[in-house]
Amino acid sequence: MLDSFNRRINYLRISVTDRCNLRCTYCMPECGVPLMPHEQILTFEEITDVVKFGVQNGITKIRITGGEPLVRKNIVLLVAQIAAIEGLTDIGMTTNGILLDRYASDLAAAGLKRVNISLDTIDPERFRMITRLGEIEEVFKGIEAAKKAGLFPIKINCVVKKSSNEPDAVGVKEFCIQHGLQVRFIKEMNLETGQFSVVEGGDGGHCASCNRIRLTANGDLMPCLFTDLKYNIRKMGIENAYFAAIGNKPAEGSINQSNQFSNIGG
Ligand code: 5AD
Ligand code: SF4
Repeated sequence: MLDSFNRRINYLRISVTDRCNLRCTYCMPECGVPLMPHEQILTFEEITDVVKFGVQNGITKIRITGGEPLVRKNIVLLVAQIAAIEGLTDIGMTTNGILLDRYASDLAAAGLKRVNISLDTIDPERFRMITRLGEIEEVFKGIEAAKKAGLFPIKINCVVKKSSNEPDAVGVKEFCIQHGLQVRFIKEMNLETGQFSVVEGGDGGHCASCNRIRLTANGDLMPCLFTDLKYNIRKMGIENAYFAAIGNKPAEGSINQSNQFSNIGG
């Protein structure tokens, strides 16, 4: 389906939970963020109904995000349900990798095609500082498991303060070369102003060719990360919310003031 600026919307990003097992400093305060009440979280049936409606209207690519998607109960089953929908050519997941060692092979068997894994440093101490809770060995094991499961291409998302020449980023770049991983550097956003820019090699921030819409864990369809526009599928029904999201997709993003980034899934 085309939006009002003739952009073809074929990519749906789905946040399946606002929970996370890490507390990355740039994403959340240490105490975490106010969580969505459980009853507001979409069921698997609601999520797959949105995907089915999307596919009928031109969606071919799905990305599953969070929070951390692997903390959602029965996530493998959800992936299988989405993968069973005919018409999708690509199903990916963005994860922090902590639980990937446990789930990679099951996810691949369920129909997941590939993963993006967040990794901002390869130094265990720095990793613990950035994520507040994380054990980097778990991520390394997760990356190996993803390789073994064939979840290719594996892309590493690396958040940088200013540029990819920073020591942490240089370490990640070398690690990725050694391990046959693609890396993209994402400049840290100030979440109060909603400012955003891709440093290099990314696919965000190109409003003129933007092909995506987002579904939050509580059912808001959002046309753009950088607006407050949202259309809730429970309140409006899937069809109305979907057409409103695409019909009101702005030419370009400006500022998001009402949403926690962690809820929307990057
Ligand atoms: N700035 C840029 N990217 C962020 N992410 C989370 N918080 C921020 C922020 N403040 C992105 C990172 C991470 C993904 C899960 O969300 O890319 O890898
Ligand atoms: Fe969790 Fe990702 Fe936010 Fe880190 S950036 S706290 S891994 S949602």
